[in-house]
Amino acid sequence: MTDLSQPVAAAESEAQPAGVAPPLWLLAELTYRCPLHCVFCYNPVNYTDHSSELDTAQWIDVLREARALGAAQLGFSGGEPLLRDDLEVLVSEARKLGFYTNLITSGIGLTDKRLDALKDAGLDHIQLSFQDSTQELNDFLSSTRTFELKKRVAEAIKAHGFPMVLNCVLHRYNLPHVDKIIDMALAMGAEYLELANTQYYGWAHTNRAQLMPTAEQLKEAEAVVERYRREIGERCRIFFVVPDYFERRPKRCMNGWGSVFLGIAPDGAALPCHTARSLPGLTFPNVRDISLREIWYESDAFNRFRGFDWMKEPCRSCDEKTIDLGGCRCQAYLLTQDPANADPVCDKSPHHESVIRVVRAAAAREANEQPVLFRNDANSRRLAATHDDDDPTQGTRK
Ligand code: FES
Repeated sequence: MTDLSQPVAAAESEAQPAGVAPPLWLLAELTYRCPLHCVFCYNPVNYTDHSSELDTAQWIDVLREARALGAAQLGFSGGEPLLRDDLEVLVSEARKLGFYTNLITSGIGLTDKRLDALKDAGLDHIQLSFQDSTQELNDFLSSTRTFELKKRVAEAIKAHGFPMVLNCVLHRYNLPHVDKIIDMALAMGAEYLELANTQYYGWAHTNRAQLMPTAEQLKEAEAVVERYRREIGERCRIFFVVPDYFERRPKRCMNGWGSVFLGIAPDGAALPCHTARSLPGLTFPNVRDISLREIWYESDAFNRFRGFDWMKEPCRSCDEKTIDLGGCRCQAYLLTQDPANADPVCDKSPHHESVIRVVRAAAAREANEQPVLFRNDANSRRLAATHDDDDPTQGTRK
């Protein structure tokens, strides 16, 4: 496996001959704490190993530095960002700095009082997650009784005049409900609906056998989405995030490593993608220790997969490498144990069979033999204690 503990030189890439462009999108993961226990959460399965959180002043420094670097879009996420009682202070600071701000939330804790305060602070946009259009499945997948509450929160968001994205992660359990999920978004007045097929990282990777849909389910869901798009026009824009295990070319993950995305984890670790912490050997710089400017331009972690020099064959000589940039580093690691390999979603990858096997198993309905594993502190501690030290994304059920 490629040894990520050995530093690389700062990037001089063909893609960015004039140097590295500044980050555009800052994701502030304010906390890993969450009232929900979703089986597909992308947070690290060993999130309990990273329980410290930046304080308000440290987050404000992050916002100022990121804005000075050029970041313009800001997502407040988690865990559940509403569990931070300084959220309004941070939103207000972000507004003053000129960020476009988005709150990415389960809705739990989003009272009228907080909506008023967030409006006053200048929040631009809210993304509210649902797990399904039915109470039964919504509550099962999050291991909470929150469906009715979420519906009331959606109403309150609209009553306060916020533009709203409804987000629903799709998988084999709820793909047959796509029409009902769209109806729900329309009834709630959402301006956007993000139907995000599960990406298999973090807890979703642990529960992959249970969540993986069949190709038929996906085809039917896509046809439903297309029909609705024709019928509703601009009333609600529907984004359908494709399930890459069913593709033949990988996604251009994060639009390139260290290209536009800068994530800050609750403890201050700076991440080039949401799930980069799963890559063994890579040390992520912390905003408590060095400036964001040094992190973005000079750190080994952010330079590691910039450009093309890191690529192995078949990516290195591939005439499509400028399109997909070799795909996703985290997926390459999860499926081939080497993050410098081609993303095996690509059918030119010698490891493509590892993707086909998973899809075939889903078609043969070999899943569901094990119960799903919910994201909670007890499971996180157990997985952190039992995983192979080199692979914190993996765990065994006991
Ligand atoms: Fe980490 Fe794709 S999710 S590079």
